[in-house]
Amino acid sequence: MRPRIILGIETSCDETAAALLVDGKIISDRTTRQTMHEQYGGVVPELASRAHERLLAPAIDGVLADAGMKITDIEAVAVTYGPGLAGALLVGVALAKGLAAALNIPVYAVNHIEGHIWAVEMSLMGNRADESGCQLRRVDSPDALVEWLPMPFLGLIVSGGHTILLRVEGFRCYVKLCSTRDDAAGELFDKVGRMLGLAFPAGADIDRLALNFKDKPFYFPRARFTDQQPAFSFSGLKTAVSHYLKNHPELFDVEGNASDAARRMICRGVMESVADMLVWQVGHFLAGGDYRALVIGGGVSASQFLRRHWERLAADYRIPLFIPPPQHCTDNGAMVAYTGWKMALAGIPPAIDSLAVEPALSLFKSLV
Ligand code: KG4
Ligand code: ZN
Repeated sequence: MRPRIILGIETSCDETAAALLVDGKIISDRTTRQTMHEQYGGVVPELASRAHERLLAPAIDGVLADAGMKITDIEAVAVTYGPGLAGALLVGVALAKGLAAALNIPVYAVNHIEGHIWAVEMSLMGNRADESGCQLRRVDSPDALVEWLPMPFLGLIVSGGHTILLRVEGFRCYVKLCSTRDDAAGELFDKVGRMLGLAFPAGADIDRLALNFKDKPFYFPRARFTDQQPAFSFSGLKTAVSHYLKNHPELFDVEGNASDAARRMICRGVMESVADMLVWQVGHFLAGGDYRALVIGGGVSASQFLRRHWERLAADYRIPLFIPPPQHCTDNGAMVAYTGWKMALAGIPPAIDSLAVEPALSLFKSLV
């Protein structure tokens, strides 16, 4: 019997998240971002694991209370088992396995990147599909799998850990087109944020500062590869910002803080460079393919600045654009529960007792 009520658990990095889905629709959803990492300028793995231990059980109690359900109502658990921080993943996987054993229910092992791919479909399923007026349409594919987004679509996952472009032909039918050769786009934002004295994670602040700069910013370089292979690269941009700041000490006050005007100008320059690199590569594949939609996910897809570029690009190619609402761009438990639900629909067997965390899990390893 396919499970209808699914608890999703996400603890791969610094968000402790749980959600309840009934028939693929979000009933309750709680995400706590661990703020203690801010003072260190990055996620401290040991602190993240300890915070997950403290926060996860209350998050599950919270989503059950919000939904007016009891723990025994849950029919399956879906949990992120990779990629991510080993100790952090372990907290979620251990709790999921314990719950599944105690309640005698299946546990679905979800790949975090796959969760980001389907986050927008899940958000649209969340009762807003009808009123959104978007192109969401139920398509019953020949193998009885339910698909809602137009296929094939070009999928871009941009987060703190990944920048990967995919051709998606259906659930579990993914072709990798290219990825970053060094830093992920979100990682670049967080590193530039540290140079500018912004709180971690810095992506949302950089986005806001970039939008507030109306002048002509400094032109930072865009990475291109001499081997002509499609790929992303953001570490050169990070180095360019670092050199620029070293060469312009006048941008900092006596305490070493960059002025607001300098921050806005640099964030705008960085965002324009990132937008160009992402748009070039995505445009390259849209031009050469038969894609019926552009789907974006991951924390960086919450950027309002980048969204303007995506909208223009999708309009140029006359295809619909799908991006989740901000709370489902960044890490959340609902996308994990939703992916578990799709796995159950597709007849993918639940994990067995030996389920272990896989910190370096690739998207494609989950498919074999
Ligand atoms: O998907 P996510 O929550 O975690 C990972 O799987 O990595 O993405 C986190 C990343 C961080 O690097 C953060 O700075 C970035 O997403 N981010 C943003 C925005 N909100 C979060 N980047 C740009 N604009 C935003 N509004
Ligand atoms: Zn993520």
